[in-house]
Order: sequence, then C-alpha cells, then structure tokens
Amino acid sequence: MNTIDKIKELKRRDNVVILAHYYTLPEVQDIADFVGDSLALSQRASLPPAATILFAGVKFMAETAKVLSPDKRVLLPDMEAGCSLAASCDERDFGEFVGKYPDHLVVSYVNTSVGVKALTDICCTSSNAVEIVRGLPAEQKIIFAPDRNLGNYIKSVTGRENMVIWDGACHVHEEFSVEKIIELKAQYPRARVVAHPECKAAVLLLADFTGSTAALLDFCSRDEATEFIVVTEAGILHQMAKNNPAKTFIPAPPLDSTCGCSNCAYMKLITLPKILNSLETNTHEITIDEPVRRKAEASIRRMLET
Ligand code: 13P
Ligand code: SF4
Repeated sequence: MNTIDKIKELKRRDNVVILAHYYTLPEVQDIADFVGDSLALSQRASLPPAATILFAGVKFMAETAKVLSPDKRVLLPDMEAGCSLAASCDERDFGEFVGKYPDHLVVSYVNTSVGVKALTDICCTSSNAVEIVRGLPAEQKIIFAPDRNLGNYIKSVTGRENMVIWDGACHVHEEFSVEKIIELKAQYPRARVVAHPECKAAVLLLADFTGSTAALLDFCSRDEATEFIVVTEAGILHQMAKNNPAKTFIPAPPLDSTCGCSNCAYMKLITLPKILNSLETNTHEITIDEPVRRKAEASIRRMLET
C-alpha cells in the first residue's frame, strides 16, 4: 500500500479529519478533508465531525483547534512547524506592552501563541480584521498585534488613528520586492496583481486586489483577467490553478530568490510521510493548560460570533 492509501485507511479507522491550510504542499492539500484560510479553518475546528483533528498547517493553527475543541485529540505532524509572525510576539513582552495601554482593547491576529491569545480581547484573521475593527466604537482605543503590515493596512482602510500596532511581521510576506513585481508587471502587462495584507505598504500599493488567501482565491476565480501575479506564499497557487485551469498564475518572488517564488519553510515541513507517521504514532499531540485555554477561547469565540 502506498503512503496515500495508508493515510486514507488510518483516517477512516481512527475517525480522523485532516484540515489543511492553502500554504501546505499540493499533495498535502489533496489528501485533506478540508482546505481553507485561517478563518475557515478556525470555523471547521470548532465543529469537528471526528474524534481526532490532524492539522496540516502550523502550530498556532493546531493550538486554535485544540482551544476550540478541547475534548478532541489534535495532532500536528511536526512540532517545528512554527510561524515567524507568531514568534515575533513574545507572550511576556506582549503582556508588558498591553499593561502600558490599560484603556485599549486588544485585537490580535490568530497568528499568535495561545498565551498571546489569552491576553487578547478579540482575535481576527486577515479575512475579517477590517470588519472586526470597523465594528468597534469609533472612540475605542485599540492595540493591534502582532503584524505591523496588516495593522497599517487596517488603519489605512478604516481611517482609525487610535490604534497602537505591535512591531511584528511574517518573514515570507516582508520579503516581497517592489522591483521584482514591477519587472513582472512589465513582462505580463495584462496581469492583475493580487496581494496578501501581510505584505509591506509599498507592495500593497502595486496590488489591484488585497485580501486573505480565501479572498485572493475568490477574486482570481471571479475576475475576467486571465493572468495574475500572486503576492503571497506560493502554496495558494495549487488551488488557484485547480479552480481556474484556463488562467495563468505567476508567483511573485522575494528579492533574493533561487526558486522564483516564496515559500513558508514552516508550512512545507508538513509532508505526507510525516502525516502518516503522525497517524501511526498519534504524535504530536497538542496540549494546553486549561486556564490559558479558557482565556484564549474567549477571544477566539468573540471573533467567530462577530
Ligand atoms: P490567511 O489568509 O489564511 O488568513 O493567512 C495567512 C497566513 O499567513 C497563514 O499563515
Ligand atoms: Fe507564519 Fe508567514 Fe508562514 Fe504564515 S506564511 S505561517 S504568517 S511564517
């Protein structure tokens, strides 16, 4: 039996659901029961139809699943699958930062540790961040963490001046280069540029459309253009091409690129052999201290109920 068949058999035998993010390897996306963006994955993780959730994504996503479904077993095939953005916001430093702004409401992107979520009033993802901030009273002062680019994007779209932004970033999205995108636009003059809001403001100025991975996917399917320069992690191109076989998707490269596209090394740690090993050995199981879990749950549930 090959690896894929073995995964399918163990999944059936042990009542496991596999949730995958759009940035994972194509073959991983193809064996998942559900592929989505951070928001859709959180929604799915709160209503799992199975005894075990295997997360094909990074650690903060698996932790979110465990926070929302504490009675389920949540497996992450590789515990090294972290996130540079989540790592840019240390829980202790963030606690001190929050302490300096006692009259501010804390809005955090889900790309955070469970400890940071426990210090947060309401979570958001790139799909709903603008909507969540717009829903807060205009006079409400806000701390936004941890992504400075997403924070500045929200500020520019909502016009909110009373927002203090944590100085964190994702190394993948920070590295896109304005020069390379301009070169690609010259090479593909009819192409639309679509970008994730974790990119720097100068890159977003070149975009025809800015949105979460799910929003980018949706835009590329609806738009009449046939060529798209995609400025986010290259894993998303798999679903874009699958949904739109007649369209061309060109990955934007970072400044120093050998492969011509931008990959999140953490997401790419999740491979089929590791998924099989995870199912065979029931590793690595996510565990969270109950008091922290309860606090983190409140901030995630507030987002899901918005
Ligand atoms: P979403 O578009 O899925 O919210 O993604 C962002 C991300 O960086 C996941 O790591
Ligand atoms: Fe984290 Fe960036 Fe990788 Fe997303 S792409 S998981 S934000 S490091």
